[in-house]
Amino acid sequence: MTELLPPDSAGIARAVALLLEGELVALPTETVYGLGADATNAEAVARIYAVKERPRFNPLICHYPDAEAAFAHVEASALALQLAKAFWPGPLTLVLPRKPDCPLPLLVSAGLETLAVRVPQTALTLALLRALSRPLAAPSANRSGAVSPTEPAHVLAELGGRIAAVLNGPACPIGVESTVIDLTEMPPRLLRPGGLPRKAIEAFTGPLAGPLPHEARAPQALRSPGQLASHYAPRAKLRLEAREVAANEALLAFGPPLAGAAVTFSLSSRGDLVEAAARLFSGLRWLDQEVARLDLAGIAAMPIPEEGLGEAINDRLRRAAAPRPLGRRMEVALHA
Ligand code: TXA
Ligand code: MG
Repeated sequence: MTELLPPDSAGIARAVALLLEGELVALPTETVYGLGADATNAEAVARIYAVKERPRFNPLICHYPDAEAAFAHVEASALALQLAKAFWPGPLTLVLPRKPDCPLPLLVSAGLETLAVRVPQTALTLALLRALSRPLAAPSANRSGAVSPTEPAHVLAELGGRIAAVLNGPACPIGVESTVIDLTEMPPRLLRPGGLPRKAIEAFTGPLAGPLPHEARAPQALRSPGQLASHYAPRAKLRLEAREVAANEALLAFGPPLAGAAVTFSLSSRGDLVEAAARLFSGLRWLDQEVARLDLAGIAAMPIPEEGLGEAINDRLRRAAAPRPLGRRMEVALHA
């Protein structure tokens, strides 16, 4: 059963308790209702993808109570500080480099070196964020492919019975998602048009790059960095569907590990796809380092069932295994 929580301090307290237990709670922002999870808890973040039935890992926006909290986790340029001062709380999301000591799991960033951060405006949710005192990862609270919800009833229709609670807040005054800009390149790039008009941002930044013509046409398909194979590829060679492993290979195990590998990272020894998703990006990164350190032939990945989060895990693994030169060319072409 999904609890409908009152929009008051008791509701906030209950929502915070559930989030700290790793549960998912939907809550209002000024743009759309978000499906929130404790961003420091990799399994809770993995559950977001499971509940949304997202076929691939798209990086998530982390929500903070104020700019100071957000900039504790990312490298903020002078421009980032200016934009935050001008538009937060509000419908603007900034993509910035993760700090080296950023404590959030890589799954939040879908394995990228960057993190999307924003401070939402809705008073109830700001109060929740202050009480939670850790960031909240939150995509829109709909099943993958459906439209974003702007009222609690929409969320219940989409996800009722699949999430712990919905905070019964106001309808969303803006009703479209936040504007996402990437501040890691100059000029900054508009990744997703949204609730804050481009012109308002350009008063600070000058003309923004993008979105690319095909990004504008098919935002979900091409804007996502998940589309760019080379963003995700580990340096090591990756072999999929491994049913045996050589002594000069690193093993990415799922279920009982194959014997004989030089090193093994277990995604989930009990074969749990949520646990596996939560550990995927950190596991690949660690194995990549081990392959370089021990001069191994590459990484062998055991088969993962194509069900639930397995679809997204396999999507990520296939991209990581894709021929590298093609990946790079694709990326250059898309950013040209
Ligand atoms: O208004 C909103 O932004 C809502 C509310 C709940 O805050 N959230 C939302 O999240 O729309 P989501 O997950 O549906 O969209 C996040 C967008 C995606 O287009 C994703 O590719 C992009 O932000 N994004 C997130 N992290 C990124 C990163 N590190 N680099 C590039 N793009 C990123
Ligand atoms: Mg969405």
